[in-house]
Amino acid sequence: MEIRLANERDLDDWMRLVRKERDSFPGLETEAALTEHRETVLGFVHRESAICAACDGRIVGALLFSKEENMLCYLAVDGEYRRRHIAEDMVSYMLTLMDPNRAIVVTTYREGVPEGIAARAFYKHLGFAEGRLTEEFGSPVQEFVWIR
Ligand SMILES: CC(C)(COP(=O)(O)OP(=O)(O)OC[C@H]1O[C@@H](n2cnc3c(N)ncnc32)[C@H](O)[C@@H]1OP(=O)(O)O)[C@@H](O)C(=O)NCCC(=O)NCCS
Repeated sequence: MEIRLANERDLDDWMRLVRKERDSFPGLETEAALTEHRETVLGFVHRESAICAACDGRIVGALLFSKEENMLCYLAVDGEYRRRHIAEDMVSYMLTLMDPNRAIVVTTYREGVPEGIAARAFYKHLGFAEGRLTEEFGSPVQEFVWIR
């Protein structure tokens, strides 16, 4: 398993993973949304803010983050590769590239939503604390905040 910054050559395989796990993310329902998301990922790649987990030449984990906002923007691990600490390893890698003096924020599903069970358990496991209730793409979400 290799954890590293993604490059443009990874984009097709990155999007294969996004498509496979799209049901976990509001806002990726349509082909147009996926096409737009691909451009978004490319922007993160150019800013060196896209981390991937590669296994046997295949991308099985993807993470986007913002250095400016100190925010984790997207995180997914292939369903067949979960509970192997791949997400944890990607977050650890991300932390080496972020400002240690600012809180890290991520938004995810609110409590009680089945799609959010893994993510909420994961962020709590890392030490994130529950924060503000907000909305994203018209869906109710909750911020999780982590202070080193
Ligand atoms: C959330 C997600 C990224 C976690 O990826 P992962 O690689 O399986 O997570 P890890 O193996 O690094 O998990 C580390 C720890 O988090 C906790 N955890 C992770 N998934 C969990 C789950 N489904 N139930 C309970 N605890 C869980 C556990 O404590 C785990 O350690 P353990 O396996 O030794 O008990 C993955 O489930 C996923 O892609 N889900 C769909 C997309 C999504 O929800 N993304 C986040 C949206 S903001």
